[in-house]
Amino acid sequence: MDSCRLSFFVIFFILVFVNAARSKNVPFDLNYKVTWGNDHVSILNQASEVQLSMDVQSGAGFGSKLSYGSGFFSMKIKIPNKDSAGVVTAFYLTSNGNNHDELDFEFLGNNEGKPITLQTNVFVNGEGNREQRIHLWFDPTADFHTYKILWNQYQIVFYVDNIPIRVFKNNTNIGVKYPTQSMQVEASLWDGDSWATDGGQTKTDWSNAPFRAHFQGFNIDGCSLLSQSSNNAGNCYGSNYWWNESNYWKLDNNQEKEYEKVREKYMNYDYCDDRDKHPNISPECKYSRL
Ligand SMILES: *[C@@H]1O[C@H](CO)[C@@H](O)[C@H](O)[C@H]1NC(C)=O
Ligand SMILES: *[C@@H]1O[C@H](CO)[C@@H](O)[C@H](O)[C@H]1NC(C)=O
Repeated sequence: MDSCRLSFFVIFFILVFVNAARSKNVPFDLNYKVTWGNDHVSILNQASEVQLSMDVQSGAGFGSKLSYGSGFFSMKIKIPNKDSAGVVTAFYLTSNGNNHDELDFEFLGNNEGKPITLQTNVFVNGEGNREQRIHLWFDPTADFHTYKILWNQYQIVFYVDNIPIRVFKNNTNIGVKYPTQSMQVEASLWDGDSWATDGGQTKTDWSNAPFRAHFQGFNIDGCSLLSQSSNNAGNCYGSNYWWNESNYWKLDNNQEKEYEKVREKYMNYDYCDDRDKHPNISPECKYSRL
């Protein structure tokens, strides 16, 4: 090979490498492992994609190898198509043990042609019941979309394709509980037909099984507790983490507008407005709105 050709190849491979690093296309096994339903998990395309499937025997799930104390967690997801009533696809953060903290995205499947609901929830110290539900402005079964959870000392924000759909602020100074425990990143596909669709009245139709959900994007931007001395999230709020920089402390004007639009046009349930289930308005509800 002459030197001109050689340098061409060197440059070519450097470009490929830099691009791969930038797109953070890391293989599944680097950060994640299968947690249940092994034989219902397929790792595809050089471990850049995972398929979970569910039939009457089992669903499946995977989770991060490490726990995190802050971060900007992201997953590309394409949820089961066809008739998927009762089928729940989840992407969430959760701590271990009793009185756990948890931040959830849950897609509630539906009969063919009916809209799929995206439910979010926030558990603090074992206490959940903070459901919000939206219908999406696209068909989440047709393509991959990006679902993200920002978690720093100031706020927790759920995003769909970079549009904020939920904000949970750190208002501990006025008595609102805020997650403090380290959490793992999890994803799963499971049978939720006791509650998920029409309040549990529409059941999973197993003649449509197997149901399949697809996941991509296994890079994790998080503060892992491996290198931290204590198991408390507090050490993960340092300025060395980019998701703790001031532009992540609150939504900017543009994001606020997008968020308000989602609430107006797409939100169809907010626990803050449910006086039957929550006769006393939860403290965060008084302040979480902008
Ligand atoms: C919440 O914010 C307060 C400051 O208002 C801070 O002292 C505290 O560490 C934060 N809590 C968490 C869990 O991030
Ligand atoms: C988070 O980062 C900012 C700078 O980006 C810094 O001012 C702030 O003190 C940091 N928070 C903590 C708890 O270290």
